[in-house]
Amino acid sequence: MSEQIRFVLDESQMPTHWYNIVADLPTPPPPPLHPATHEPVGPDDLAALFPPELIEQEVTTERFVEIPEPVREVYRQYRPSPLIRARRWEQSLGTGARIYYKYEGVSPAGSHKTNTSVPQVYYNRLHGVTRLTTETGAGQWGTALAYACSLFGVECDVWQVGASFDTKPQRRTLIEVFGGTVHRSPSRLTEFGRSLPEDHPGSLGIAITEAVEVAAQDDSVKYALGSVLNHVLLHQTVIGEEALKQLELAGESGADLVIGCAGGGSNFAGLAFPFLRERLAGHQSPRILAVEPASCPTLTRGEYRYDFGDTGGMTPLMKMYTLGHDFVPSPIHAGGLRYHAMAPLVSHAVHEGLIDAVALPQSECFDTALGFARTEGIVPAPESSHALAQARRVALEAADAGTEPVIVVGLSGHGLLELGAYETYLAGRLEDDPLSDEDLAAALANVPTI
Ligand SMILES: Cc1ncc(COP(=O)(O)O)c(C=O)c1O
Repeated sequence: MSEQIRFVLDESQMPTHWYNIVADLPTPPPPPLHPATHEPVGPDDLAALFPPELIEQEVTTERFVEIPEPVREVYRQYRPSPLIRARRWEQSLGTGARIYYKYEGVSPAGSHKTNTSVPQVYYNRLHGVTRLTTETGAGQWGTALAYACSLFGVECDVWQVGASFDTKPQRRTLIEVFGGTVHRSPSRLTEFGRSLPEDHPGSLGIAITEAVEVAAQDDSVKYALGSVLNHVLLHQTVIGEEALKQLELAGESGADLVIGCAGGGSNFAGLAFPFLRERLAGHQSPRILAVEPASCPTLTRGEYRYDFGDTGGMTPLMKMYTLGHDFVPSPIHAGGLRYHAMAPLVSHAVHEGLIDAVALPQSECFDTALGFARTEGIVPAPESSHALAQARRVALEAADAGTEPVIVVGLSGHGLLELGAYETYLAGRLEDDPLSDEDLAAALANVPTI
């Protein structure tokens, strides 16, 4: 094995197609249902919010979907992203595990989110949309959408979860640098926002309702979602497609373990689904693991049932692991992992036993992130640190067992705008706040019975 560290593809080797896991799943995922009629939703039900190509991608069973050339052109600003062998981190852990991280922090917004914001804005622009609305938690998605909107000349309105708006003014500034407009959610601009106290800490579910409410009222305005939906996961598969090629470049015959953090599920699915395809085809046999925070343990403690994607009940009902659509998680620092549910496709794969999940406390994740930063030189986003913490657990187990597993871990973004969270951790003020059984039961009580 060479001592090479970075496995970099040429621009010409960037994927030309996104991969759709639906084509290869042993059983079809349950359809989304209309929130009022509880009948499967048709394309017309989604037309007020999304352009035709995204609706088509939401329901397609085609294995591959071609990436339009104008989107590839923007991707080339930062893709292919590097796959990096964590040699220094491995050494510090004293492990024989070979750890590779796929680093999405090289994108203009600093995370994987641009992989979907660019095509979403592109398709909307094709249909004359002049303004997009969205929600953002940690601020990464709002930044990515504002960046893509600036490229295609579309206005961008971002409802930022109140707690994050209050504590992350720089993230707001970055969105504004890219030309977006930020509203604290709950805002006074929507009926749903006005139904809540102005100083409410907000949640992703509330911010989604506000952004959907505004888009649904005007034909020239559409809505963009940063995770959860099938088309978003589809766009993220460029991550896994590149990683497969890069692992081969590294001389590995496959991965033993693929790990990603999961909030709504998009970076995880983007990395994992191409590996799952290879496993289903019998080409390699990685265990695939989604990591979530102990304070928002959707996959590990939620229920697999139909629920709304937002708090106000405006979105279709989707079958997914959920903690309840009005669940408000404690304000942990991994804002992007504070979503009440999980992508239907990830949920289905977990339910079918194709993917495993684990929940970790945030203190362990920050502790891991420091060790990673001090060896690899990258400050991980708090969300990504969840994936790293699980990789560390496995690497330490491997050290004890004397094994040498190949671990591929998704480093979905950098944390350079999350230094406030690091400051709290370094000052010893960071607390773990695992979800209590009582709070879980209360949140699940409002999930509709279908
Ligand atoms: C860096 C980073 N990683 C992960 C996530 C979680 O989202 P998803 O599960 O859709 O990848 C976010 C969301 O904001 C994020 O910013």
